[in-house]
Amino acid sequence: MLFKLTGEQRMIQTMAREFSRKVVAATAVERDRTKEFPAENLKQMGELGLMGMMIPFEYEGSGADTVSYVLALSEIAYSCASTAVVMSVHNSIVCESIYRWGNDTQKDKYLKSLAAGSKIGAFALTEPEAGSDPVKQITSAVRDGDEYVLNGVKRFITTGQNAGLVIVTAVTDEAKRHRGISAFLVNKGTPGFKVGHTEDKLGLRASDTTDLLFEDCRIPASDLLGAEGDGFKIAMTALDCGRIGIAAQSIGVATAAFDAAVKYAKSRAQFGQKISKFQALRFMLADMATEIEAARQLMFSAAATKDRGENFTLQASMAKLYASEMVNRVTAKALQMHGGYGFTKDYPVERYYRDARVFTIYEGTSEIQRVVISNSILKDKRKP
Ligand code: CAA
Repeated sequence: MLFKLTGEQRMIQTMAREFSRKVVAATAVERDRTKEFPAENLKQMGELGLMGMMIPFEYEGSGADTVSYVLALSEIAYSCASTAVVMSVHNSIVCESIYRWGNDTQKDKYLKSLAAGSKIGAFALTEPEAGSDPVKQITSAVRDGDEYVLNGVKRFITTGQNAGLVIVTAVTDEAKRHRGISAFLVNKGTPGFKVGHTEDKLGLRASDTTDLLFEDCRIPASDLLGAEGDGFKIAMTALDCGRIGIAAQSIGVATAAFDAAVKYAKSRAQFGQKISKFQALRFMLADMATEIEAARQLMFSAAATKDRGENFTLQASMAKLYASEMVNRVTAKALQMHGGYGFTKDYPVERYYRDARVFTIYEGTSEIQRVVISNSILKDKRKP
């Protein structure tokens, strides 16, 4: 391996792998069928320090670096992509944003329960008419004395139903476009805040994806995250972190599909020999392994750049783009190698194939990643 892990990083990886393969894997297939939220797993992950990984000890987080975090996240994704996406949004988007942009009171108030996993976080940016172009959002937040009044609809919110805390972006000054968007910390149970429609999805079925409805929802002005007008920057910074997480999830699912393909190729016989003897399949495995390794190095590069405190927007988008497209190729090949069995629920590859499909879509489509990457190369920003 090109990227040399420290002893601590390896220890965290081993701990997450053991937990994932013993505990998370045990119920993953059933969860995919029933769509049951992995509450018990997440509780245990909180106890293991996996829910506030990059949050310092001061706020009862694990004080780990981003490299350790992506290793752990990949391990969880190996067994259950639904559990992994909840972990990813919670750690990379919610906890990191509060730590980076919150004041001392907000950090004290929210980070400890989030890091413990007793409260799960969600992030509400997308709206029915504002997906790839979040500047077009119309959810409003109007200041009224010591409160803000929120009105609007958010869509496709990961953990919308099960989150105890949501970072919600809303327009505070329409004339200022992206500089008129602000971010708010909204607690579950706040009057005027309701969960709307829950999506029935192709994959990630145990992770709930919902609409969130705000009708004259009053929140204290003290729950404004950052300053008024910081919301878009908070969202973009959060998505940079989140995109490294999507790369990690992709690598976890791809590795699981690859391992399943190797196992099957070694056990299945046709034409009088194991199918692993056929060059067509051997070459498929060679390509799969090479692409997984390439994605892993891009993920490490993005995580290590972030850990050095440098700007990592470009590296995060490259890792997300390549890894999410890679996992779609790898899971398709793994399914193909299983023949007709791959298309059934008797083998795990059909679940990997379905779960992988959204990775090129959420937290910025592949097309948006190419916008970010090309803008960075050419340094003359082009609109999508
Ligand atoms: N970090 C910090 N600031 C950033 C930034 C970054 N990575 N990218 C842009 N900004 C800032 C710019 O500096 C600029 O600020 P100033 O004008 O104050 O200097 C401001 O943001 C606007 O920048 P742009 O003009 O480049 O913005 P744009 O409107 O052209 O959009 C975009 C850029 C990359 C297309 C962006 O809109 C984008 O990322 N879109 C995709 C949105 C997305 O990923 N949605 C996913 C939903 S969340 C989700 O899926 C989570 C989940 O639940 C799983």
